[in-house]
Amino acid sequence: MWDPAAYLRYDDERGRPFHDLAARVPAGRPRVVVDLGCGPGTLTANLTARWPGARINGLDSSAEMIDRATALGPPVDFAVGCAALLTGAGCAVDAWETTYVHLLPALADADHPVLTRMEGTALRPARAALDDARWADFRTGPGARLAAAYPVRSGLVSFPFRRVFIVARTGARAEENS
Ligand SMILES: C[S@@+](CC[C@H](N)C(=O)[O-])C[C@H]1O[C@@H](n2cnc3c(N)ncnc32)[C@H](O)[C@@H]1O
Repeated sequence: MWDPAAYLRYDDERGRPFHDLAARVPAGRPRVVVDLGCGPGTLTANLTARWPGARINGLDSSAEMIDRATALGPPVDFAVGCAALLTGAGCAVDAWETTYVHLLPALADADHPVLTRMEGTALRPARAALDDARWADFRTGPGARLAAAYPVRSGLVSFPFRRVFIVARTGARAEENS
């Protein structure tokens, strides 16, 4: 469950994994490129510059994200879809994990920045299930625990941001483009 607006609040830092991943895709002239887990689609359009001859598709399991992405219009085609696409497709897979460290500013008159960030991602199901009053009461719990787990030092919170990367290519196309 993702909130496109909250997600885009951090688009600069969050964009780095996208560019790191794209740099690891070795395909020269692919016919189709799929950005699986494309989110709000703002980064997917970068792929049209890298592979101008390819059809670029953006898929995401979140209908809210795809609604947002579709509003961007051509040239990318966006649709709801999930990782099950890779299962049994005979893909050659390159997978790795990186932990980025984001330094989040902690402002004196604002909530803890990790809480703010999680309200757009992991805490969305809890927010959706509670009315405003219950939500205000509930969020003090994770807020206090996050503040203890991610202390503020010199006005900043050091936040490890773990990403798992997967580049998958069908065998035939991998050979064509090598
Ligand atoms: C961290 S966001 C990344 C969005 C975008 N790639 C970017 O770099 O800005 C992860 C996205 O993956 C989507 N997602 C998670 N699991 C998925 C799955 N199994 N299939 C498709 N999308 C998935 C989420 O809905 C979310 O939009």
